[in-house]
Amino acid sequence: MSGAVPVDIGRRPDGSIQLVLHRGDGSSVPIHPIWLRERCPDPASLDPLTLQRLFEPPDLPLDLAIVEAEAMGGDELRVGFSDGHRSVFSIAAIQAEVAALSGIHAPIRPRLWDRRLNPMPSSDWQQAVNGTGMAALLETFLTLGFVVLRNVPTTPGSVLDVARRFGHVRMTNFGDLFDVWAKAEADDLAYTGLALAPHTDNPYRDPVPGIQLLHCLINEAEGGNSTLVDGFAVAAELRRRDSEGFAMLTRTPVRYRYCDGTTELIAWRVPIELDARGEFFAINHSPRLDFVPLLPLDELDVYYRARRAFAVLLTSDDFALRFRLGPGDLEMFDNRRVLHGRTAFDGRSGARHLQGCYIDRDGPDSLYRVFCRAGRLPAA
Ligand SMILES: [Fe+2]
Repeated sequence: MSGAVPVDIGRRPDGSIQLVLHRGDGSSVPIHPIWLRERCPDPASLDPLTLQRLFEPPDLPLDLAIVEAEAMGGDELRVGFSDGHRSVFSIAAIQAEVAALSGIHAPIRPRLWDRRLNPMPSSDWQQAVNGTGMAALLETFLTLGFVVLRNVPTTPGSVLDVARRFGHVRMTNFGDLFDVWAKAEADDLAYTGLALAPHTDNPYRDPVPGIQLLHCLINEAEGGNSTLVDGFAVAAELRRRDSEGFAMLTRTPVRYRYCDGTTELIAWRVPIELDARGEFFAINHSPRLDFVPLLPLDELDVYYRARRAFAVLLTSDDFALRFRLGPGDLEMFDNRRVLHGRTAFDGRSGARHLQGCYIDRDGPDSLYRVFCRAGRLPAA
């Protein structure tokens, strides 16, 4: 290997070639021939417009080998495979691909927070949408899981205009937009003046709403302050205090259900979802809608202990941000990570009217990557 080319070209006992990639962190990794073959960038292998592969898994023999390899100087690596195909690779591109696939599912690693988060992450919406603040806004949102937008027009329906800047609005049986105010014959406790403990919305739905936007049009009532809690931070604290209980909440499917005259939605989810790497992926916490199966007594002892501890932490002053939304304020939060709630309000003391909607979780992710591609943010 030359100093400028971080790939070793060696021989295997059968005479074929073994490539070993040296990574920026000092470690090295052998490259599987099929892994490299399916990344051939030539137009016979990869459609140049869609960047989609032009062959299927059975088209590659399992005993595929690398039979030729030559570092051309600079960034180029020429490789020949035992199926007769030859291609030229960018070593930097291979390194970037290895790094990208060893990372996490989101474009930015989350930074956990509790009540000490200061300052409150907020952005002026008019500046963001008309100027250059959008990239920074996205970075804040993806890192912390929420942001408060100020100066959003208080015209009814504006929440949909904001949402469409970030992704596709997810219509549900509540419509594309829902009004949050106290009303007679409420079909959800959200539509009363009762306090709402921190929760995630709609765990009974598939898919669960990814991101929620709540826009304040009027808030003249006594009470009705907003709460946000970082569910990942609380789950991490539960894991620290009670690893057995934490594990139980990551592996026990619970039934969530919503029912009205025309709808019956049921989904089974574990309260704390981890991804394949064991990283936090999502929280499902709607403590008036969760029903655990009749498990063995000792398992339920652990489950109920953990659920109680989780709920106590989620409602404790240590983790909750409490603030008041005024007219023109909009809180946008990752409904799979950040729990939301409110204090009780007295609808007779003044009007309180919020409008909300959902978008999918991947909208801001995509927008952020496009900003990175355009050089407006450093690539993650
Ligand atoms: Fe809610």
